[in-house]
Order: sequence, then C-alpha cells, then structure tokens
Amino acid sequence: MILRMCLLLLALTATLSTALIDKHTYVIHMDKTKIPALYHSPGSSKQWYEAIINSVTEFSSQEEEEETASPQLLYVYETAISGFAAKLSKEQVEALSKINGFLAAIPDEMLTLHTTHTPQFLGLQSGKGLWNAQNLASDVIVGILDTGIWPEHVSFKDTGLSAVPSRWKGACESGTKFSPSNCNKKIIGARAFFKDQANFFGLANGAAAGMKYTARIAVYKVCWSLGCANTDLLAAMDQAVADGVDVLSLSLGGREKPFYSDDLATASFGATQNGVFVSCSAGNSGPSSSTVANTAPWIMTVAASYTDRSFSTTVKLGNGQTFSGSSLYSGKATKKLPIAYGRTAGGQSARYCISGSLNKKLVRGKLVVCERGMNGRTAKGEQVKLAGGAGMLLINTQGEEHFADPHVLPATSLGASAGIAIKEYVNSTKRPTASITFKGTTYGNRAPAMAAFSSRGPSSVAPEVIKPDVTAPGLNILAAWPPLSSPSLLKSDNRSVLFNIISGTSMSCPHVSGLAALLKSIHKDWSPAAIKSALMTSAYVLDNSNAPIADFGAKNSVSATPFAFGSGHVNPESASDPGLIYNITTEDYLNYLCSLNYTSSQLVLVSRRSFRCPNNTILQPGDLNYPSFAVNFEGNAKNITKTYNRRVTNVGTSQSTYAVQVQEPNGVSIIIQPKILSFQKLGEELITM
Ligand SMILES: *[C@@H]1O[C@H](CO)[C@@H](O)[C@H](O)[C@H]1NC(C)=O
Ligand SMILES: *[C@@H]1O[C@H](CO)[C@@H](O)[C@H](O)[C@H]1NC(C)=O
Ligand SMILES: *[C@@H]1O[C@H](CO)[C@@H](O)[C@H](O)[C@H]1NC(C)=O
Ligand SMILES: *[C@@H]1O[C@H](CO)[C@@H](O)[C@H](O)[C@H]1NC(C)=O
Ligand SMILES: *[C@@H]1O[C@H](CO)[C@@H](O)[C@H](O)[C@H]1NC(C)=O
Ligand SMILES: *[C@@H]1O[C@H](CO)[C@@H](O)[C@H](O)[C@H]1NC(C)=O
Repeated sequence: MILRMCLLLLALTATLSTALIDKHTYVIHMDKTKIPALYHSPGSSKQWYEAIINSVTEFSSQEEEEETASPQLLYVYETAISGFAAKLSKEQVEALSKINGFLAAIPDEMLTLHTTHTPQFLGLQSGKGLWNAQNLASDVIVGILDTGIWPEHVSFKDTGLSAVPSRWKGACESGTKFSPSNCNKKIIGARAFFKDQANFFGLANGAAAGMKYTARIAVYKVCWSLGCANTDLLAAMDQAVADGVDVLSLSLGGREKPFYSDDLATASFGATQNGVFVSCSAGNSGPSSSTVANTAPWIMTVAASYTDRSFSTTVKLGNGQTFSGSSLYSGKATKKLPIAYGRTAGGQSARYCISGSLNKKLVRGKLVVCERGMNGRTAKGEQVKLAGGAGMLLINTQGEEHFADPHVLPATSLGASAGIAIKEYVNSTKRPTASITFKGTTYGNRAPAMAAFSSRGPSSVAPEVIKPDVTAPGLNILAAWPPLSSPSLLKSDNRSVLFNIISGTSMSCPHVSGLAALLKSIHKDWSPAAIKSALMTSAYVLDNSNAPIADFGAKNSVSATPFAFGSGHVNPESASDPGLIYNITTEDYLNYLCSLNYTSSQLVLVSRRSFRCPNNTILQPGDLNYPSFAVNFEGNAKNITKTYNRRVTNVGTSQSTYAVQVQEPNGVSIIIQPKILSFQKLGEELITM
C-alpha cells in the first residue's frame, strides 16, 4: 500500500516536472511597424498580442491533440521595447516565430542585485542636513529600479520641495507594507512588478542610496529575494519611460551578452531614444578581467571606489608589529589578549570560524583569527562571540581590501599581507598576543582607490568601447536602512538603525544617476550622450596625493587602469562645464551596430526600426563618437596603423580654441589632426582624427 502510494506520488511528480520543464517565460520582441494600424494607439497593442497568443494556443492544441492551458500574457511592452512576456511551450514559441513581425523570443532570466550583501552599520539616528540641501534638481525625476523603499524614512521627507512636476504621469500604487499615502513630493512614484509568481517570495529590504541631490524619486520594485526577473525589469523600464522619468538608475545585471540578446541593453536603447539617461552598476565580480556587465555604449557603466573616509583600526602584535584595518565597531580598545587560530581554536575548519568549528575551551577570552570565505563576515564574529571569544581578527587570503562591518564584538578586517604576517607570528611563538584599537571615522585617507570587487573590462562583446565608463564612491556609503532589519542582517543582532554603511557598485551607480539629474536640470537640452560625455571627459585619474588612482584588487595596490575606472572618477564641479562634448545621434548608434556585423533582424531588435547599413563605406566600431576609445592590437601586431574619427561639439563659450595634448601609451605613437580646434559659435561641430 505504502509502495503504491509512493509510486503514485512519483508518477505525479514526474508529470508535474515535465509540465514545468515544458513551459518557460519568454520575452517576445515584436516589430512595432508590423502591428496592424488598428492597434497603434497607446495601450491597444495588448489586444493584438492576445489575438496572437490565442492563435498559437489553438495551433498547439490541434497539433498535440490534447488540452493545453492557454498561455497567460504577463506583460505588454510598448515604450522602451515592443512586445510582450508570456509563459509558452517550445511549440508555441515555434508557432509564434512564424507570425509577421516576430523578432525574437528571449527566455526570462534572473539578474542579480549588485550589492555585496555585507551591509555595515553606523549608529546614526538622524539624517539631518544630508538630504535637505538645495532645491537644484527638483524638476528632474530619477527612476530607481531596485528592491523597494522604506517610505517613512527621514531621507524621503519632502520639506521645502515644490509641487510635483505636472508632466509626471507615474503613480503610487499599493504594495506590501506600502500604501499610496506614503508618497509625497520627494517619492513621487512607487510601483512593484512581480507577474511571474515563481519569483515572488516576500518583501526584500529596500534602501535607496547615494542620491544626494534633491531630484524626485520614483521607485520601481523589481527585485525580490531570489533576484530580479528580466520580464519584471522590462515592464518597469517600459513603465518608467512612459511615466516620464529623466534618469534611470539600475543597480543590477546579468551575464554579458551580445546587445540584441540582452534585454536590459535593448530596453536601455529605447529609453535613451526617449531622452532618458540610463546609469547601471558595473557589477561586483572583480578584480578578474572581463567581468564587467551592462556594457552597451548607450549605458553609463559605473565602477566603485573608496572615498577618503575610513573607519580605521590598529592591530598591534606581541612582537611589536602593527597593521591598520577597518571596523564599524566603536567601543574601547581591547587589552593585550592571547591569539587563537585554526588548530589552537578548535581544528582545521576553525580557521573560517564557521558554525560549530570553534572550541569554547580554546577560544574563551581570546582574540580569534578568522579567514574570509565559507560564511559571512559578521557571521564569523557572531560565532566567535557565541564561543566566548573576546574579539576577532578577520583576515583576507587575497587582496588588501578591508571592510568596515557592524560586528557584534570587538573585531577588525585586515588585508592579506597583514594576514600572512599574523600567521607567521602565530607559528613563531608559543603564546602569541595582540590588541585592537578602534579609531572611529577618519578622513583624509589616500583616495579614490579602486575596490577589488568592482567588475573589470575589457568588455568581451564590444572591446572597442572601454568599460566601465567611470567610477564613483561605492565603499562604506551611508544609506537609508529599514529599521526592521538589523544592520548586520544577523538574527541574533537586535540593533535597529535608520542608516547603514553599504558597499557595492549598487552604491556608486545612484551617485552617477544623481549627478546626471543635476546636469539635466542645468542643461535641459543635452542628450543622454552629451551628459555622459560631460561626466566622462571631466573625470580625473589622480588621487588626493596627486598619484595615479590605486587598485586594491592588484598586487601591492599598484595603479589602476582604465579597465578598472574607465575615464576616471566623476567630478561634479567640472562636469557641468565640459567645454566640448562628444554627442552621439541615433544614426551613429545604428552605424555602430552595422559595424558589429549585426544582421538586419538583430539591428531591429536593438533599435526597433529598420535601417539599411551603408554598403559603400567600411564601418569600424571604434568610429562610434564615444568619449573614450580602445584600440585592439591583436596578437603581437607590429607597425600597425589604425585611424579613428571623432566629432566634438562646442558647449562652452562661443569663440574658443582648443589645443590637443597626448600621453602615448608605451610602444604606441599617436597623431591627432588637427592639433588646434577653433570654434566660432556654440553648438558648432568639428571633426578630428
Ligand atoms: C605554520 O606552521 C605549519 C605547521 O608547522 C605550516 O604548515 C604552515 O605553513 C606555517 N604557516 C606559516 C604562515 O608559516
Ligand atoms: C539587545 O539584547 C541585549 C541582550 O541580548 C540587551 O541587553 C539589549 O538591551 C537589547 N537591545 C535592544 C535595543 O533591544
Ligand atoms: C546631441 O544630439 C541630439 C540628437 O542627436 C540633439 O538633440 C542635441 O541637441 C545634440 N547636442 C547636445 C548638446 O545634446
Ligand atoms: C565584420 O565583418 C568584416 C568583414 O568580414 C570583418 O573584417 C570585421 O572584423 C567584422 N567585425 C566584427 C566586429 O566582427
Ligand atoms: C548597395 O546597396 C544598393 C542599394 O541598397 C544596391 O543597389 C547595391 O547593389 C549594393 N551594393 C553592394 C556592393 O552590395
Ligand atoms: C611601418 O609601416 C610604414 C608604412 O606602412 C612604413 O613606412 C614604415 O617604414 C614601417 N616602420 C617600420 C619600423 O617597420
């Protein structure tokens, strides 16, 4: 009887799983120009897509001679892209592909948020002053696609803001723990997207960070605890553009792929065509090369770097050696305490301080050395505390990056070189000791410096464009924090805070979105490409000690390269007055796509318009009028000459003259013609090569 039940269950599971495997959620891209005129007005393409879907349902049920559930239309996309999302079987996709106007079916994908999942704590109870700055960018609307928002937060007070711009078409919808009355003159829109129920597992923590300027914020919640589904993200981008945002801020991404199969890239192109500036995080997969995400040239790709602020500690060993580290722990210095590590703390696995690995008898009252890996950084501290340890030295096995974490006991993070010295010292003596001193917040450290985790170029799909584009503060950033979550995210931690310290390119991206909003409010007529150019050409590459920006992901923190920081660190002051800009027209982008040898249908997928690639000229990707360029000398190329063209537009003073200055990379000689550019009026364009 039991056996029969089991078999029955097995059989059931088997049918269920084939049914599940059988259908996937797809984004179906459609050629807008092929939609019958009847369905052209906004909102009416839904009927057309429903008719299409019904036709393929009939088709597949005849074919299979069995009842198949009618595919559900999840989303209709009309603004940033054209098409819809639906759950479909292979056969249904096959049938759809024969319909006039079908461009591509791209399976849904989960993207990840670019936070480091290592939020850090600061005991700030009020954000006075920070968010109540001047009213400069109040006419600019930034759409944030993220995990959501904690509306009661002091950061989102709207004191002093003028009325919501009348052109705003967005809405405040109710969501989990969010009601339309939570919107005000600061948060002017809030919508949540989760049609694909499989992705919906409750509310994740929301934190809008880095937006220092008083731009209006519209929040589109697309990320849930499992990640951010592409179909939801596209619906949110589509809606945000229709709502009237000026800037889109996306701190998420997936694998790098050709732009025609990258929905985020195609939707961003659509947004750019509607005058929306799109800023995306580069990702937290560094320091390995070619890890950068979101590399389309119409996207601003943002890396993450340190600021001059740190939360310093000093560790002094019994032999007199000292090391500096970071921690948000802010108590008194520890006494000189015995060290326990690995074998002397419980055994081999004790070096990672994972749950159950530490021996209470061995670690009681001691400073325990824990290596990074296996579990979270604050979780290691929790284990040491549970085992009766008095403190923790958290050491890297690679790289010199240290994190200011909200530890639950006296603890500090240290780089790999300190880690090696500590291990040698522990080996060299019977009774190793150490102490930690907490210096609190210090300013004036050498900065900026590239974070090891910040994703690196070159882009593997379009190496002629340098990615990332710029870097911005992304370490130890003060951000609004929902008071219902503990700052360390540990269950045993009962602290509740309004602000937290967070790291990731998810923090640097909103900084750049804020700067773009600022530029947009000063220069209303600038295209997204013009704003991007201004931010890139005014970026700097030297740190506050006048040395090249260092790279914490490189051995001995040597100088960072453009594949870490692109054009450099953003510079808000000079970005508002760049003098010249490299503008990019739609036709420039189309020619660029032609130069990548895209087929005409791939071209339509990205640009949503048909375009005949010029066949009488040779197009090179490097000729895109981009504010930076890379030249690829394949293999051991010798004595090769490459020529690229650029157009610059005068946005400075009407009569002005510019002279060229070149710093040649080793082994390369560069000739720029002409050497002098003389402009007679504003908006004038001149060509260089
Ligand atoms: C410490 O000693 C152990 C065993 O004697 C050895 O395996 C290890 O490599 C030593 N570590 C260092 C950093 O010297
Ligand atoms: C947190 O818990 C500790 C002991 O577990 C207690 O002493 C402290 O008062 C609690 N703090 C808050 C804010 O509840
Ligand atoms: C850049 O090009 C766009 C369209 O291609 C145009 O609208 C804009 O005026 C140009 N100049 C600037 C400074 O944005
Ligand atoms: C495009 O095709 C041409 C001709 O085959 C080739 O020379 C060129 O390298 C290709 N470009 C790219 C980006 O693949
Ligand atoms: C280039 O395009 C034109 C018109 O589109 C066509 O007539 C011509 O044959 C093409 N030339 C080549 C070399 O493909
Ligand atoms: C490099 O090539 C150019 C022409 O392509 C030639 O004039 C020059 O002599 C070459 N230089 C060397 C060092 O081979």
